[in-house]
Amino acid sequence: MRSCRLFVLVLLHVPWLSVACTPPLPVGTPPLDVPYIPTPLGVVKRMLQLAGVGPTDVVYDLGAGDGRIVITAARRFGARAVGVELDPLRVAEATANARRAGVSERVRFLQQDLLLTDLREATVVTLFLTPALNLRLRPKLWRELRPGARVVSHLYDMGDWKPDRVERVQGRPVYRWTIPARNTH
Ligand SMILES: C[S@@+](CC[C@H](N)C(=O)[O-])C[C@H]1O[C@@H](n2cnc3c(N)ncnc32)[C@H](O)[C@@H]1O
Repeated sequence: MRSCRLFVLVLLHVPWLSVACTPPLPVGTPPLDVPYIPTPLGVVKRMLQLAGVGPTDVVYDLGAGDGRIVITAARRFGARAVGVELDPLRVAEATANARRAGVSERVRFLQQDLLLTDLREATVVTLFLTPALNLRLRPKLWRELRPGARVVSHLYDMGDWKPDRVERVQGRPVYRWTIPARNTH
């Protein structure tokens, strides 16, 4: 267990190592900003609880992988959810997983770059990216999300944007921020 955690941390800090270990992307796919590493299901559930996800929410997972956050948001929390994912093989996998879970009508997967995705309809955004990508996303989140929207990140913070909650889940930090009523950032 300990060695597994270490392996994940090494992969996150040395992305080329992980890219070297995963199948090549189909020709024409832009390079990934982050390798695929899934969030453990217990952490997924807690992230969605920390965000207070419910049936009126629209959850966007940026870099959706196999769709587990999106599918859990729909199946366990009754939300509508959208997964944004650059890798077409992951999009196909996530779509099949959603069908098997019986939530196809409440979820969508968009094969596109998360930095070019319109986030205005999201009430919750979930992230498992890198520190640098979180910082690149920050102004976009502030610009596009409405007051009261929640952002939850597995493992990485947002620099000097102070979270309103931090919790350790299975030994990993999970951060939550709320877009303020007057978005003055
Ligand atoms: C660390 S994984 C997280 C997967 C999932 N969110 C989870 O927590 O289980 C990051 C995902 O982001 C995807 N990704 C990397 N760069 C991306 C980009 N620019 N736009 C959209 N997805 C991207 C990768 O293919 C990978 O599936």
